[in-house]
This record gives sequence, structure tokens and C-alpha cells, in this order.
Amino acid sequence: MTAETTTEAFDAVDIIRTKRDGGTLNDDQIAWIIDAYTRGVVADEQMSALAMAIFLRGMSDAETARWTQAMIDSGERMSFDSLSKPTVDKHSTGGVGDKITLPLAPLVAVFDVAVPQLSGRGLGHTGGTLDKLESIPGWQADMSNETLLAQLEDLGAVICAAGSGLAPADKKLYALRDITATVDCLPLIASSIMSKKIAEGTSALVLDVKVGSGAFMKDEASARALAETMVRLGAAAGVDCTALLTDMSTPLGRAVGNALEVRESVEVLAGGGPADVVDLTVALAEEMLRMVGRPDADVRAALADGRAMDKWNQMIRAQGGDPEAALPQAAETEVVRAESAGVLTGLDALSVGVASWRLGAGRAKQGDELSLGAGIELHAKPGEAVTAGQPLMTLHADNPALFARAQEALAEAVEITPAAEGADAEAAAGSIVLDRITA
Ligand code: URA
Repeated sequence: MTAETTTEAFDAVDIIRTKRDGGTLNDDQIAWIIDAYTRGVVADEQMSALAMAIFLRGMSDAETARWTQAMIDSGERMSFDSLSKPTVDKHSTGGVGDKITLPLAPLVAVFDVAVPQLSGRGLGHTGGTLDKLESIPGWQADMSNETLLAQLEDLGAVICAAGSGLAPADKKLYALRDITATVDCLPLIASSIMSKKIAEGTSALVLDVKVGSGAFMKDEASARALAETMVRLGAAAGVDCTALLTDMSTPLGRAVGNALEVRESVEVLAGGGPADVVDLTVALAEEMLRMVGRPDADVRAALADGRAMDKWNQMIRAQGGDPEAALPQAAETEVVRAESAGVLTGLDALSVGVASWRLGAGRAKQGDELSLGAGIELHAKPGEAVTAGQPLMTLHADNPALFARAQEALAEAVEITPAAEGADAEAAAGSIVLDRITA
């Protein structure tokens, strides 16, 4: 032990042991371990062990609240108080084909509301908002806090990279969780998301908590518990917070992959696009606008009459992008066909997400280059009738050698029920918003 560590208030090994044995960490222990980890005094190996102990033993509500506060305290806190309009933010727990932030931010900003979407990059099978936008030629993710505030005042909508000053403890810990199988842990997800959102300083927040195979939370009960925990953490920090539980058993929309998802988002902004993407965008926009005192805003009209599209074009140009420029397209395609006729009763989100990732749309580790045109177009969605041999998906990749591994991921993804067996198309199509959770 070095002379420096002997002056520390606690010993990391004691804290790991307490949690390993099912004990409760007190406020001072939690504040210390997060601070010491951020300072580099607690090693990655020790934090990995603690994360696994938390994964296996859980944390109480009080521990989770203190953990969240400690992560907020690890960095700066922003403030939007200088803006002349109310701020409202949205956060999704992540899914396959989830491009909702792209049409949502400009749509809500039409109603003279500031929407700061400080976003991240994708890892694993879920895509990242910044990666999608970076497929637009010239678009820049990074901006200073001053530029962020100026653009919010001027246009109302900003989607940009979260600065490294916000909750740096989470940044370090998330990267560690990602390589130690400790991401899908309720208290760690809740504190990770809410520390960033509370530090960001928004006054209202709508959480899109995904449920299903493509989400961290595979069943409704655990997604509900996550949503309730996050709403409670928000309320305790003075952030008006509502959560929608939404379906992620099948991909959102008909496009998965960076440029493909931008194209679909632009269709939604042009008044078209797949019904599930439009419905979820509208549901989240209405919820956000209700929270900032605009309950009568007609968001469907703003999609239909071009106001949301105008705002999108301004937002993209303000960050150096050319909204008219051609988007990247992958060099090669391969079609996946229906093996039988009937009703498409299942199209598994996780399988499609993994396949898209293998095609080059996602990265295996931080810093990997993406193939921005890669991904999957879906030609049929659950609830639709299909004929034998009809194209179900088109796979896009720059390297045709990647198709075989993507096809492997899709081997069990498709479920077709013969019409004679009485497939319930309506049940298969399902509804996108499953529930709404408030404080
Ligand atoms: N998103 C986050 O920001 N953190 C998590 O832990 C999981 C999803």
C-alpha cells in the first residue's frame, strides 16, 4: 500500500467484501468509492469486483440514490436557467432500430421548447444516436457548452456528444461494466442514466424504457421496476420525470443501421415513415410537451406540414451537416426470403440487432470504425401476411464476407404462422407503448 492510499477514508477491499456478503453500503462508503475510482485510487479490478457484487446482491433504493448522487458529484453540473424557454429531455434505455431522438428533438422544438439531447455512441447490438447522425456528411457531434446554450436559445433543438465533464465516474464505470458483463443490472443502469440526466440540468425528462429481447430489460416486470426507480431518482433530484414502457421485442421501424435509420427518420419528418416509429415519436413528444405546459400542441400536424422538417434542416446545418447530401450506402446487399407463407408472428429484435452489428453497423469495442451504410432493411413487420419466397429483409454490408455471420444471427429470428392455424395478426403487431409510469 502506498503512502497516498493510507490517507484514504476507506479500504476498497472492505467495501467489496461488504457487498459480496450481502451487506449494505453506507453513504460515506459510496461517496468515497466513486470519488476514489474517479481519481484513479481504486483500481479497475476492484471496481469490476464491486460491480459484480452489486450485480449479484443488488442495491437498496437508498444505496442507489447515494450512488447516483456520488456520480453526479464526480463532475460538473450544467444549467439551462439562462434560456428563455423551458427545457425537456428524453432518454431511451436503448434498443434496435431506435432512431426516435432524430425526429423527436426537432419536432418538440417546433413548440418553442428547448430539447438538449446529449447523446452517446453505440456499443454492442444497440446503435448510438451520434453514430447515426455522423452518417450525414459534415455533421459534427462535439460542441462547447456555450454553443450548446446558444443553439438551444436560437433553434430549440440540439443533439450532440455529452461533454466529458458530465458524470465522469459513469463514463469510466460504464466502459468497465461493458467488458465485465455487469451492464444489465437495475441499480447500475438507473444510477448511470439518471446521474447524467440530473447533471445535465434539464427540468423535465421523459424516459423511454424498453421491454423485450432487444432491450436490457427482457420482461415487463423488470422494465417497470427500472422505470419506477429512475422516476423516483428524478423526483428526489427535483427533475419532473415520467417513463413510458415501450416494446422492444421487435425492431423499431423498418431500418436498422446508421444511414438507413437517418433515411427513415427523414421520412417521418416528411410526414410518412413506419407507423410504430411515428406513434412512438408522437407519444414521447406529447408527453414532453405536456410536462412543459404545452398539452394542446398538435404534434402530428407539425410532422405533416413541414415545420418539424424545417427545424431538422436548421439543426443539421447548425452543426455543419448537409441535410440534402447523399447518405452513405453499403457496397453489397443480400436478400433474406420467407421460407413459408402465413402471418409474420415474430421478428426478434436481439437477433436483428446482432445481425446488423455483424454487418458492420455496430462496433465490438470502443473506438472501432463503423460501416455507416451497413445494416438491415425490414420488408415485413409482425402482423403482416407474407408469401413463401417473398423478401423479408435486405442486408447491407461493405464486405460481402460478413453476410454469412449475419445470417447465422438471423437463423431463429423469424416466426411465420400459417394462416390456417389462425394466426392473430393484431396481437402479433402489438402496440408500441405498453404503460406510462409517473412519480
Ligand atoms: N444507458 C446508460 O447510459 N447506462 C446504462 O447503464 C445503460 C444504458
